[in-house]
Amino acid sequence: MASTINWGIIGLGRIARKFADDLKRVPNARLHAVASTDTSRARAFADEFGATHAYGNYEAMANCPNLDVVYIATPHTLHAAAAMITLNAGIATLVEKPFAMHYGEAIRMVETARRHRAFLMEALWTRFIPGVQFALDQAEQGAVGPIHTVKSDFGFRTAPDPSSRLFNPALGGGSLLDIGIYPTLLALSVFGKPEDEHIQAAATFTPAGVDESCAFSFQYPETGWP
Ligand SMILES: NC(=O)c1ccc[n+]([C@@H]2O[C@H](COP(=O)([O-])OP(=O)(O)OC[C@H]3O[C@@H](n4cnc5c(N)ncnc54)[C@H](OP(=O)(O)O)[C@@H]3O)[C@@H](O)[C@H]2O)c1
Repeated sequence: MASTINWGIIGLGRIARKFADDLKRVPNARLHAVASTDTSRARAFADEFGATHAYGNYEAMANCPNLDVVYIATPHTLHAAAAMITLNAGIATLVEKPFAMHYGEAIRMVETARRHRAFLMEALWTRFIPGVQFALDQAEQGAVGPIHTVKSDFGFRTAPDPSSRLFNPALGGGSLLDIGIYPTLLALSVFGKPEDEHIQAAATFTPAGVDESCAFSFQYPETGWP
């Protein structure tokens, strides 16, 4: 791989803009190609952020020359399909959270990456936040003694727009897949995966049937009070 890493982005929405803007601050990386469902949006985005290639469909990214890695920033429901395009072309792929809609999709993505020997990762930035890394290191080293409980919350107030990806079931709407994954990651990072029978969950639903809030409890028998 060349010393400058050529990035591509699939899906040019809100987080893609932030990613492209941040990429300007990374010394050995540049935005090389972008793909959108809309040709003019791809062109405008490429012009604004200095990408060489602009495609009006996602499939074209597979044949982009000199491309090292693609960041997938579509709504959740399209993560797997978009990843298949790049992985089948042997291109390293970074997939926005949540990685996939369900286990079946995730396994298919992992198997495809293995078959093509392509790098594949979920873009879960919490793992790389220095404060989180420090806290987890401290916990692992026993600096705070045995840990019995992790309590973690994430919420925000937003206008209930049924067409937005947050509320639209067709785009994977709902609190669990959007932000519930963050508290889950924290619990999993400290205690690992709980047994299925030790997971309890409750949610409130919008009229469209997406969870506007959810709460879950993981129990780990081995962390009981000594
Ligand atoms: N890591 C983080 O902190 C973070 C923060 C926000 C979001 N995310 C994740 O990033 C992903 C995108 O979120 P976002 O907030 O950027 O969403 P967004 O603003 O709605 O953008 C999603 C983009 O996907 C493309 N798209 C393709 N088919 C679509 C369809 N049927 N409906 C809507 N968009 C469609 C569109 O771009 P084109 O038409 O140009 O292809 C659209 O602009 C989500 O999976 C979300 O969980 C992560």
